[in-house]
Amino acid sequence: MTESNVQQSDIAVEMRDIVKRFPGVIANDHVTFIAKRGEIHALLGENGAGKSTLMNVLAGLYAPEEGEIFINGRKMTFHSPRDAIEAGVGMVHQHFRLVPTLTVVENVVLGLDEPRFKLNLEEATQKIEALAEQYGLKITPDAFIWQLSVGEQQRVEIIKALYRGAQILILDEPTAVLTPQETVELFSTLRSMAAKGHTIIFISHKLDEVTAISDRVTVLRAGKVVAVVEAKDVTKEKLAELMVGRPVIFRLEKPEVAPGQEVLRAEDLHALNNKGLPALKGVSFTVRAHEIVGVAGVSGNGQAELSEALYGLRPLQKGKIYLNGQNITKAPTREIIRQGVAQVPEDRHKEGSIGDMDLAENLILKNYRQPPISRGPVISWKYVFDFAKTLIRRFDVKAPGIHTRARLLSGGNLQKLILARELSSDPALIIAMHPTQGLDVGATESVRELLLQERSKGAAILLISEDLDEVMQLSDRILVIYEGEIMGEVPADRADRNEIGLMMAGARQETLNHHETVAA
Ligand SMILES: Nc1ncnc2c1ncn2[C@@H]1O[C@H](COP(=O)(O)OP(=O)(O)OP(=O)(O)O)[C@@H](O)[C@H]1O
Ligand SMILES: [Mg+2]
Repeated sequence: MTESNVQQSDIAVEMRDIVKRFPGVIANDHVTFIAKRGEIHALLGENGAGKSTLMNVLAGLYAPEEGEIFINGRKMTFHSPRDAIEAGVGMVHQHFRLVPTLTVVENVVLGLDEPRFKLNLEEATQKIEALAEQYGLKITPDAFIWQLSVGEQQRVEIIKALYRGAQILILDEPTAVLTPQETVELFSTLRSMAAKGHTIIFISHKLDEVTAISDRVTVLRAGKVVAVVEAKDVTKEKLAELMVGRPVIFRLEKPEVAPGQEVLRAEDLHALNNKGLPALKGVSFTVRAHEIVGVAGVSGNGQAELSEALYGLRPLQKGKIYLNGQNITKAPTREIIRQGVAQVPEDRHKEGSIGDMDLAENLILKNYRQPPISRGPVISWKYVFDFAKTLIRRFDVKAPGIHTRARLLSGGNLQKLILARELSSDPALIIAMHPTQGLDVGATESVRELLLQERSKGAAILLISEDLDEVMQLSDRILVIYEGEIMGEVPADRADRNEIGLMMAGARQETLNHHETVAA
């Protein structure tokens, strides 16, 4: 394999021998990382490999115990993100740090050192518009953050970094939350930034993207660098192997199983979104036992509201929900859980877990009232700890122990923790929203396998995902949602990408002529 050689004068970032420890783990174990001026550099590795930690060190959030950082050849010591920004390093975190009640402009200038009386919002607006124009970032400066889609918020974060003069831009899993169209736009922005001499470092688990957009790739495994390669020299399979340390097979066996009886029936669901606008406009469908029904669609078309409505977290304006023939339309979430419904929520931080609780507590969140965990008011901690240890092993959650707080887990490991809890309860119905988001290749495969196993065991599964490959690979039937309505339904074995794509953009199935769509 070609190890990449770099000229000293081309180097924008050099991190030398970085060591960063947390209680019980060495997140970065003598990591040396080099990024060139004008390159797009991908940082790859399994969940918990130390990617976010390394970039948080570069962005001044963590002080390393050992090692040195050089920016454009000058040695730096960062005591805070502010120091890093001063040196030209900006970071867009996976969880945005914008204030929802402020406008785009206000967020961009927020926290700048300039004294208040000097702050000229009009000037700022002009500067923001110029940056937006220069880098092809579509934004509305006077919009409020709460009005923006996730993709738009990300653009605000990028502008914020550019506004502060970032020459080196770090993005932590930027595409995990984007629609395919937004991803295309982001990549075009990143390319134009690199062409203007910026250095882009981005973390991703999507290997197709990594090979498509990056110039070079650094691979971490268990806190250490295992390879630095030119992207053009490697395949997706090779990258996966470097990450995991053994060959990874990108194939899934989907066993033949006959669908059983109807488990979920949704009839004419109507619900509002958080802004009080119609999000579901008459959604009807069923899911049977032994069946995975996929919901394909660009995010923001009612998927989150659908998942919440089914789980009793969002009131319906109209419509009925039946579980195993029983009307659960107005049932509270606690009752819905008791009836055997599991949910993998969209937001693993806000809904899926409690950061300040430890892993064991998070694993029993949903069923601590029931035997064998508790009898009457008494919780059997011995049982809980054994249960937690077993699940953490089975789901390969990488953490120092069951008493680690959930908020200290890496993104992917938190997702695994939630899956462990939800899938271990032998659910009758699983509502899984983006179940593999943020997971590394290995974990993604095992979660998909788990869902198929649950299907074999008889669970009814509603799989809500933007990843069309995932939906097509796992589902028995595919529904396409657009602006709160189901555009059509196709059996997975006769699914046509083109047809689904057109429905995702708002075409109704009955208006599509199959032969035309194939030719299109
Ligand atoms: N603030 C923290 N306190 C304690 N441990 C931490 C902290 N941040 C990260 N860790 C641990 O350090 C290790 C590396 O975590 P990191 O977040 O860097 O992984 P990652 O490569 O970004 O993974 P992912 O792909 O899942 O996001 C993990 O074992 C994680 O649990
Ligand atoms: Mg991470």
